[in-house]
Amino acid sequence: MPVTISKHSCVGHLSRTSLALVLALAGACDAGGSGASGGDDASGTSSTSEDGGAETTGSEGAETTDADGSSTGGDDEDGDGLDLPATPYDYANPDLPAHFRTPPVRDLDNTPQDNPITDHGATLGRVLFYDTALSRNETVACGTCHQQAAGFSDTTQFSEGFEGGLTGRNSMGLSESRWYATGRFFWDERAATLEEQVLGPIQNEVEMGLTLTELVERVSTRPYYRELFIAAFGDDEVTTERIARALAQFVRAMASYRSRFDEGLAAAGSIRGEFANFTAEENLGKDLFLQPRTACVACHLGGPPPPPGQDFANQAIFLPLEPLNNGLDAGPLADDNGVGDVTGDPADDGRFKSSSLRNIAVTGPYMHDGRFATLAEVIDHYDSGIKPHPNLDPRLRGPNQQPRRMNLTPAEKGALVAFLGTLTDEAMLGDPKFGDPFVR
Ligand code: HEC
Ligand code: HEC
Repeated sequence: MPVTISKHSCVGHLSRTSLALVLALAGACDAGGSGASGGDDASGTSSTSEDGGAETTGSEGAETTDADGSSTGGDDEDGDGLDLPATPYDYANPDLPAHFRTPPVRDLDNTPQDNPITDHGATLGRVLFYDTALSRNETVACGTCHQQAAGFSDTTQFSEGFEGGLTGRNSMGLSESRWYATGRFFWDERAATLEEQVLGPIQNEVEMGLTLTELVERVSTRPYYRELFIAAFGDDEVTTERIARALAQFVRAMASYRSRFDEGLAAAGSIRGEFANFTAEENLGKDLFLQPRTACVACHLGGPPPPPGQDFANQAIFLPLEPLNNGLDAGPLADDNGVGDVTGDPADDGRFKSSSLRNIAVTGPYMHDGRFATLAEVIDHYDSGIKPHPNLDPRLRGPNQQPRRMNLTPAEKGALVAFLGTLTDEAMLGDPKFGDPFVR
């Protein structure tokens, strides 16, 4: 089992402006920050097979019925190695519930005007996402580290790249990437846009290891891409910009809105109400999540606190609005200070973007360095483990500015974990439109 730890930090110390340049030229890093310590990669649970045949098993078996209803699992009618529906799946107009379509949630959308999601563009993005041809030795695809069944994350603390080297941080779940208003990506937010982000892992020396020139060559020589580019962009010209745009469309299409939480919310009309489809424990957990005592809602349902008596404006996107410090470590560290290492501003030390809490029950391990194996450990951290970092968020400090202690009972901790479980979106995790289209 490979336990090589990559200590690259090529982007970690670049300013945000020079980052764009590096990404545009070559040699950018996906997993910056060399925070990896110890080879605890727990490959036994990974779907990346150790014989080097890194197949994306996360979505295998998901492809049961094509959109036209004509074919079933693993059909490859035209012999191109791909099982795609004759009419593309609907990516552009998902049936989003009301709580996604109104301000302020609507305004969190980071889709750029020049790259709206189209059904053909996201279809091309889906094929690229699962294509191992995008890694140097053709073993790793985006979907290797972002597995559908794991909420488009990886079940290991660090992920194995194309040569078995490990990423410096934990893979991020990709649900709701579209609804992050600043549009910045990665735990340390070093990518200014999603279009910029998606080219990072391809060029990263640990993850996929191609230059952009090699990327264009690879994609140009695979026969199945010609028609997909024509459908998506009008002609068969392969450019890095088009590859980035298609991948970004597919990632933005990964909207989670069909969880038990969404069903309960639709029926109750407000997140505060008792949800009829929840157990008593899940309702207690929801209540705790919304209380100032835990403050979970203040950060993870991004938006200003509601005026007294009014409802939370955002009841859909379980993502903080900006990178924050949630007290994982006591002070600036030698190896990974998140946003602070990117901006060089000590006030940003220990601040990290969070991934969405949607599908969180299946995306463990948790935090940027995957330090917590379970949600119970995460809750223990918030309850009694918050450290006094100078940049610790005020919402996690007590009146004396010291780290807050929540004094949750075991039953309350269990209820919070149970509530987080209601955010698992089985419909999304099994939806063939997000699954691996390759017949392997
Ligand atoms: C070898 C594993 C690996 C591969 C392959 C990989 N990723 Fe990642 N991905 C990661 C890790 C680890 C992070 C977090 C890195 C960091 O923040 O420093 C990440 C972060 C991301 C993020 C940021 C999410 C957010 O909310 O900010 C996106 C988007 C993403 N990856 C998409 C992709 C795409 C698209 C591909 C294929 C082109 C890809 N990844 C390939 C491991 C991988
Ligand atoms: C001050 C803002 C803040 C508060 C309050 C807060 N969180 Fe977080 N949370 C964050 C940040 C920031 C991260 C990412 C930290 C990192 O990885 O460095 C995070 C990460 C997480 C993660 C792991 C996400 C992942 O993909 O690994 C979970 C789960 C979580 N929080 C749940 C909760 C719960 C439950 C509560 C209430 C008990 C809570 N949080 C309170 C800011 C906050």
